[in-house]
Amino acid sequence: MGLRDALARALLYSSLVLAQSDFSPVRPPAIPLAVKAPYLNTWLDAGSDGGNGGYLAGEWPTFWQQQVTGWQGYIRVDGSAYVWMGGYGGTGNADQTEFTYSSTRSNFVFSVDGRVELNVTFLSPVTPSDLRRQSLTFSYLEASVRSLDGDTHSVQLYADVSAEWCSGNPEAIVEWSYGTHEGVSYHQFALQDQTEITETNELPNWGTFYWSTSDLDDLTWQSGADSVVRQAFLDQGVLGDISDTNYRAVNDDWPVFGFAHDLGDVGDDAVSRLFTIGLTQDNAIQLLGEGSSLTTYPSLWKSYFDNDLDAVSFFFNDYSEASQLATELDDKVASDSLAAAGANYLTITSLSVRQTFGALQFTGTDSDPLVFLKEISSNSDIQTVDVIFPAMPLMLYLNPELLNYLLKPLFLNQENGHYPNTNAIHDLGTFPLAKGYPDGSDEPQPLEECGNMIIMALAYAQRTSDAESYLNQHYTILKQWAGYLVDEALIPADQISTDDFAGSLANQTNLAIKGIIGLRAMAEISQLTGHTDDATSYGNTATDYITQWQGYGINAAASPPHTTLSYNDPSSHGLLYNLYANSLLGFGTDFVPESVYDMQSNFYPTVALEYGVPLDTRHNYTKTDWMLWCAAIASADTRAVFIDRIANWINETPTNRALTDLYDAATGNYPDGILFTARPVVGGHFALLALPSS
Ligand SMILES: *[C@@H]1O[C@H](CO)[C@@H](O)[C@H](O)[C@H]1NC(C)=O
Ligand SMILES: *[C@@H]1O[C@H](CO)[C@@H](O)[C@H](O)[C@H]1NC(C)=O
Ligand SMILES: *[C@@H]1O[C@H](CO)[C@@H](O)[C@H](O)[C@H]1NC(C)=O
Repeated sequence: MGLRDALARALLYSSLVLAQSDFSPVRPPAIPLAVKAPYLNTWLDAGSDGGNGGYLAGEWPTFWQQQVTGWQGYIRVDGSAYVWMGGYGGTGNADQTEFTYSSTRSNFVFSVDGRVELNVTFLSPVTPSDLRRQSLTFSYLEASVRSLDGDTHSVQLYADVSAEWCSGNPEAIVEWSYGTHEGVSYHQFALQDQTEITETNELPNWGTFYWSTSDLDDLTWQSGADSVVRQAFLDQGVLGDISDTNYRAVNDDWPVFGFAHDLGDVGDDAVSRLFTIGLTQDNAIQLLGEGSSLTTYPSLWKSYFDNDLDAVSFFFNDYSEASQLATELDDKVASDSLAAAGANYLTITSLSVRQTFGALQFTGTDSDPLVFLKEISSNSDIQTVDVIFPAMPLMLYLNPELLNYLLKPLFLNQENGHYPNTNAIHDLGTFPLAKGYPDGSDEPQPLEECGNMIIMALAYAQRTSDAESYLNQHYTILKQWAGYLVDEALIPADQISTDDFAGSLANQTNLAIKGIIGLRAMAEISQLTGHTDDATSYGNTATDYITQWQGYGINAAASPPHTTLSYNDPSSHGLLYNLYANSLLGFGTDFVPESVYDMQSNFYPTVALEYGVPLDTRHNYTKTDWMLWCAAIASADTRAVFIDRIANWINETPTNRALTDLYDAATGNYPDGILFTARPVVGGHFALLALPSS
């Protein structure tokens, strides 16, 4: 390297060091930007392995599946322009000094050449008990500016989105237009050819996107080629108020939709501007439920708003109320997480809320809502029972009715005779088409799903005022599934569990205890609905099985003793996460002895690796949801072993996408060949906060 190169590199290095940002509480593998629903799911890759380490300027935001969702931001200060968001370039980046996140917000702070401070806040609201707000598939971006040096500065602010947001196919033709409604200026853009309830590359082939800001006198706007619109702002600080009406493909001179606000002279008082991005779809899902053919379910927002523009302007003009509600949710998660297990727990929980809700689609009507879940990144199945199951703690913690709305499509499908098997179904098809499996050909996880459905039905019923009628309504099918457990739970046949990537195995200790707790739950369900003979029978079977299970599934001679991965394999071990259900349902140590809890609690730290306790002895990988289920019922010391390792992993992992729940506990990286991301199972991180005592 020549002297000049060395100098250049040293200068570059020093400028990088100067521009270094604080990350609080940690630098997550990906930062949620607009994460509200399966089709509004945009992140900033932040890991070292492919991401740029958590800097908003200089890298494109991406949809969870990695397609770019073009989102560019510039600020002009006294005539000099800087990038604060996006990968387009055109000028240098503003210096990011700080990043923080909470349950609903990602906040970036920039110093623009030491002259002004720019705060950029991405708020994706989560309002679990306010379905009108939750039903809207929109997200906020607020940019706020003030002087840093005591002088006033002339400031113009720019932000655009590209047509990439609305299509999984970059060759697809897009149409757009500009308008105003109730104080809101908006660019709308949509596929020219639409097909409802179908996707291309995980993005919908129907619906309309809206990118909006305040319709103020300081606003100019423009649609057109990325280079044209962005360069207009870089050169002039204003846009031309013109539409490019040459509707064309997403990747044909990349159409973008720009807004520029001239903030004038900005001094010590912060001046802010708001933007929103989101999607309207009249219909959302088709389900094989009632009747003999598919039922189309409208998006839930249609129950509350007459048309797209009313939804767009309501959301936009609701910012101050939405902010207040978001702060209340952020504070609730923060205070409860800190009180339950400290700051490292909050690092985990506060990163998990948007990701979980970002996989949910709210449909139906205000009097009969149904929530559909997309199993993001692992097949995109719809309504996967063993994905709802790990996500359940967040629903129970925030609003148990959400669990009811999630279970409803599964009951509708199976109670209307659309599934031939005696065990509970695994999923309802591929999102957004819940056409079920009339031939019974779903992924076979019979023991897993029978246990899950009965446990979830009781968990919900225990938290609602009409438990008896709810359980009576579903008693027949719950009893059918309990029958399967009587036959199959104690000596599980060779089969997969929810951890299907780990392979099939007979006599899985953790699967057996799920089925046995399911039988104990069925005894409770029978009791609550006045089926006393059933209650006695299921109760006796459960008690008998749990006694036998201790003989089969525990290596009592080991030092320290532990449960095994499978019967008759004494040196094997694994996370006994299904024991959590025993505590969740309040059966406690009357049913599974305290000694089992203590044994596992003492054992886990002895097999912990750098970033966690392996899922089982077959591999070094582990799962965050299941570790936190184990942590929730462990001693305080063992709980900290899990939580500290996971929080540390979030900060150090080289993975660079929305939180994976599966990683190698030794290296912190993805396991070979399996890349999970953005999955809603991270709702399971709330296990500790969903227990009845907390
Ligand atoms: C940015 O946020 C910080 C708090 O994190 C606040 O003190 C500051 O006033 C904000 N600046 C602007 C320009 O809004
Ligand atoms: C499962 O465990 C039971 C009880 O120990 C045993 O009888 C049976 O042979 C085992 N099945 C398999 C496939 O190993
Ligand atoms: C599992 O992790 C341990 C500890 O780092 C390491 O020694 C071992 O090689 C790893 N095993 C596999 C299969 O990667």
